[in-house]
Amino acid sequence: MINAPTTQTITLTRPDDWHIHLRDGAALQTVVPHTAAQFARAIVMPNLKPPVTTAAQATSYKARIQAAIPVGMRFEPLMTLYLTDNTPPDEIARAKGAGVVALKLYPAGATTNSDAGVTDIRKTYKTLEAMQKSGLLLLVHGEVTSPEIDLFDREAAFIDQHLIPLRKDFPELTIVMEHITTKEAADYVAGEAASKTGKLTLGATITAQHLLYNRNAIFTGGVRPHYYCLPVLKRETHRLALLEAATSGNPAFFLGTDSAPHAAHLKEHAVGCAGCYTAHAAMELYAAAFDSVGKMDKLEGFASFFGADFYGLPRNTGTITLKREAWTAPESFAFGEALLKPLAGGEQLAWRFI
Ligand code: NCD
Ligand code: ZN
Ligand code: ZN
Repeated sequence: MINAPTTQTITLTRPDDWHIHLRDGAALQTVVPHTAAQFARAIVMPNLKPPVTTAAQATSYKARIQAAIPVGMRFEPLMTLYLTDNTPPDEIARAKGAGVVALKLYPAGATTNSDAGVTDIRKTYKTLEAMQKSGLLLLVHGEVTSPEIDLFDREAAFIDQHLIPLRKDFPELTIVMEHITTKEAADYVAGEAASKTGKLTLGATITAQHLLYNRNAIFTGGVRPHYYCLPVLKRETHRLALLEAATSGNPAFFLGTDSAPHAAHLKEHAVGCAGCYTAHAAMELYAAAFDSVGKMDKLEGFASFFGADFYGLPRNTGTITLKREAWTAPESFAFGEALLKPLAGGEQLAWRFI
């Protein structure tokens, strides 16, 4: 038997991260350099405390991020607003004028810093109409919050109860289902893409952790808080469906790390925060996932082309290179006064960003 030649290095068009949490203040000094090293652009989530709800706030947040970009690195933060029950429809024109590209829908209480989230999508309909008209995207954290719905079923329930009706009411609104975690979501997004001629109006981002791990990772030998994020890791069948979607070459699926830093002591806690930090080794983690199914040739579309095409932005110029070379990721980083422990910190990774 002849072994297939194994890829040793791979050079890609510079990728973008279509879903990231950069936080604010001293945290920016740690996390912005990690993201800017690998990605040309990133969609910056607005769930600060208090959330970024106006064009003016987005503009000043963008300037704080830009001030943390190391000299000599080129990186463009793409800003978003946090949609609330009370976002005035005329904020959309101001947002567009300020270069904001999307609004983020968090169902109230669904995830980290989502208390100001939407309590009833219908309350936002006038604002969604303005977005549909002006071409701003709607990004959704797609989980229902009702305590009667099992935590592991909340994404599938969101599709049936909210996403399908929303798409009927706003057929021209461009929507991204963020950080999908289930076969139901992958199937729904692929089905919508297949039935569409012309421009896609529904896409999905997929994180590295949901491609690499199933829910056992949270409980291996004890509770492992650094593997806890929302939507939570699911069963193996779901991981396999996501891996299939990400490596399929379908342009509706693209890279969004959802890298979500929290101080380690707030994750290693009786009520630990949700969020995995992956920005320090994002492309290495995705490379491991694509390599695990022999699909390294599909990484560039997923990481560098499909998101830009979906957002209607130009593809990047320039390249990055990854090499098959074992290295050990740091166990922690400074995070203001605290520590930040990344996913797979202290573990060996097979691919290295060079
Ligand atoms: C994110 C965070 O920490 O801001 N956490 C997470 O588990 N993904 C919020 C989010 O993306 O839902
Ligand atoms: Zn989310
Ligand atoms: Zn997120």
